[in-house]
This record gives sequence, C-alpha cells and structure tokens, in this order.
Amino acid sequence: MEEQRYAIVTGGNRGIGLEICRQLALNGVYVILISRNQSRGEESVEKLNVSSLSNVVFHQLDINDPSSIACLAEFVQTRFGKLDILINNAAEIGMIIHDDKEFRDGGGFVVDEKKHLLTNIIGEPYELGEKCLKTNSYATKTITESFIPLLQLSKSPRIVTVTSIYGDLYWFHNEKLKAELQDIDNLTEERIDEIIQWFLSDFKDGKLQKNGWPLTVSAYKVSKAVLNAYTRLMARKYENILVNCLHPGYVITDMTSHTRLINKTQISPFSSTIMPST
Ligand SMILES: NC(=O)c1ccc[n+]([C@@H]2O[C@H](COP(=O)([O-])OP(=O)(O)OC[C@H]3O[C@@H](n4cnc5c(N)ncnc54)[C@H](OP(=O)(O)O)[C@@H]3O)[C@@H](O)[C@H]2O)c1
Repeated sequence: MEEQRYAIVTGGNRGIGLEICRQLALNGVYVILISRNQSRGEESVEKLNVSSLSNVVFHQLDINDPSSIACLAEFVQTRFGKLDILINNAAEIGMIIHDDKEFRDGGGFVVDEKKHLLTNIIGEPYELGEKCLKTNSYATKTITESFIPLLQLSKSPRIVTVTSIYGDLYWFHNEKLKAELQDIDNLTEERIDEIIQWFLSDFKDGKLQKNGWPLTVSAYKVSKAVLNAYTRLMARKYENILVNCLHPGYVITDMTSHTRLINKTQISPFSSTIMPST
C-alpha cells in the first residue's frame, strides 16, 4: 500500500491556493489548508469536506508570524510525523487599485512603458510594497526553512513556490543586477537580503528609474524575482528535495481583481498595457 503523503498549502482559503488544495486532496494527498483568517479557512475546509474531500484540515497561520510558523510545525510533527509537500502560495500584490473599472477594462496587466497612464488607476505606496516584500520573500523563506526538517523525513519531499511571470528579469533594467540574480553559483542568501533592502531604499527615495528597477507593480515584481533566485539556491542546497517554482498563468482571482486578461485585438487606451510577447 502506498504511504500517505501530507501537504501544506499556504493561502489555501481562496483563489489558486484553494484549487491546489482541492486537486491535491482529489489525488489522495492529506492537505493542511493554511489561512491567516480563521473563519475563512474553516469555511473553505468545510466546503471541501462536504464535496467528499475529508482529507483536508485547517490550520491558522499568518506567514509573517514566526511563532505561528513554529506552532504549525509542532502540529504537523505531532499529528503526521513528516511533511511531503510544501506549497508556498500565499502572497500579496503590494498595490491598491483606485479605479477598479479602468483596471478591469484595461485587462489588468501593466507594463512600465505605460506607467504615466496608470497614475489614477493604481497606487503603490511604500508601506504596501514593504509588506509585499515581507510576505512574499522573507516570510516564504522563513516558512520554507522551518519545514526543511519535517520534509527531510519524507521519502519524496518537494517544495513548490508559486511565483509569477512578473518575477521575470525582463522587467529589470539594471543589467548588472540581472546578471547577479542569475549567477546562482555565486549568489548568496545574504546578497538577496541586501538586494531587497537596496530596492526598498530606492523605492522610498524615488530612485526606481535611476537604478533600473521595475517601474510598475515594482515591489511585487522584485519580491517574485528574488523568490525565484532563492528557490534556485534552495534547490542547490538540498539535493534530495525537489524544489521548484511555477507561474500559474493569468488566473481570475481576488489578486487580479477578477479581471480577464484581454488579447491584443481588444486594446483600449489604458489597456495597451498588455504583456509584451517576448
Ligand atoms: N492570479 C494570478 O493571475 C496570478 C498570476 C501569477 C502568480 N500568482 C500567484 O499565485 C498565488 C496565489 O494568488 P491568487 O491569485 O490566488 O491570490 P489571492 O486570491 O489574492 O489569494 C492570496 C492568498 O494569500 C494569502 N495571504 C496573503 N498574505 C498572507 C499572510 N501574511 N499569511 C497567510 N496568508 C496570506 C491570502 O489570505 P487572506 O485570505 O487571509 O488574505 C490568500 O489566501 C500568489 O503567490 C500569486 O502571486 C497569481
């Protein structure tokens, strides 16, 4: 008989995370659905349970809270004795949509060349950007490190981190930085932390353009780019763990304001912010 596999999915209460929980459970994996909001998490588990998926349980966790990560690790250790799959899905977008209709009409995808058209449509305050980096990069790193010991007890451990095409280095305009983030043989976790601090300082001081950072959805793009680099470092460090990140494609969720990605034939003035085909 096949051994029972156990998975943690962060941000499992809605959107892509919820669907990941459903698919894993359908495939016989025992799922620990993580949500920072107790009632929303319990509701989501309840929905899965009533659709015949009894192999899903809820655990509350704000991934920015190290003590709640330790509490979850203890729960998994006591209850299951190991972890087979860690899905790092929870993330924040780091911006506010001021004009939901314009954003939707525009197709939701923004590129730097059209930044001037976006002033009244989206806002990227420093505080949200900082929180975005904290959640998407630092907290994801902390949770990953916290579960390595339990993953090491699995026969086939794997970590999947949900990234984004917005984390592509295409969006960066600083060639030296791009080369550095790609040079996995020489890149270190300490250097990644320095790069995050450098970005935050430039973001605060209005030096994004000067230093070649992404100009729109900046914090999110940087958070995912450094997460990609970090994932590659993890894959190198833990050869027995399958470590990957994936871009899910454009998905209609709260994060995308339930916007449908339009195609090039539907471009409106704002919506010429479509994704370049390169
Ligand atoms: N949608 C897309 O088109 C798209 C494209 C590329 C990549 N992605 C990536 O796919 C993943 C899921 O995105 P989504 O579209 O499903 O987003 P979503 O609907 O906004 O869901 C985000 C999830 O993350 C959770 N979360 C955020 N901060 C958290 C924290 N500090 N602690 C615990 N949970 C936290 C949210 O919990 P609460 O309910 O408590 O807020 C929610 O469950 C993200 O990594 C995103 O970057 C999405």
